[in-house]
Amino acid sequence: MKLFIDSADPSEIAKLAESGLVDGVTTNPTLAAKTGLDYVEALKSICASVPGPISAEVLATDTEGMVAEGKRFAKIAKNIAIKVPLTWDGMKACRQLSNAGLMVNVTLCFSPVQAMMAAKAGASFISPFIGRLDDIGQDGMALIHEIRTIYDNYDFKTQILAASIRGVPHVRNAALAGADIATIPPDVFKSLLNHPLTDKGLAAFLVDAKKAGVRIREE
Ligand code: E4P
Repeated sequence: MKLFIDSADPSEIAKLAESGLVDGVTTNPTLAAKTGLDYVEALKSICASVPGPISAEVLATDTEGMVAEGKRFAKIAKNIAIKVPLTWDGMKACRQLSNAGLMVNVTLCFSPVQAMMAAKAGASFISPFIGRLDDIGQDGMALIHEIRTIYDNYDFKTQILAASIRGVPHVRNAALAGADIATIPPDVFKSLLNHPLTDKGLAAFLVDAKKAGVRIREE
């Protein structure tokens, strides 16, 4: 499973990318607003620190405007993926941008049929929002399972990018459901390795080695 960071903060992303485990980034206008930085400048810097797809979200709501903004984003770097909303105008923009050879991430997906439409429009990525469905008492993870089934039934190549992730269980369950990618907030990403038995086990190994004088000799 590929792991993306869900943030628009270039320095935080660069730090996490040092792990060698970051495959891409998703940004959105809300995340961009939180940084207080110029969006395009922030995207330039993110594209330079992570070679995988970096999603940049359009603000226009009409097809023409989305395509124009998408083409402007695409000039930033080769690894830009243009994020468009799941609307009729978004579908038309998706088709045009994807025909122009650009990666498109269709966002704000809340139903399997929406995901099927995005795949038919040529989306490279579909972003189902798991957490926001859970927030309203629905089963966000069921959506990932249903999209996986539909895409496999018809051999759609669009990658399922599990979004609106709230914690490690979402990452585990999205992986089990066959999502291609999870986009993960920085704090959740940092907690992916956490397990009390790992910490306890490591402490015990070090104590035992010290007690017995175990050393690793230099050649
Ligand atoms: C992904 O592309 C979205 O920007 C993001 O996952 C939204 O998550 P939220 O529901 O936590 O805002």
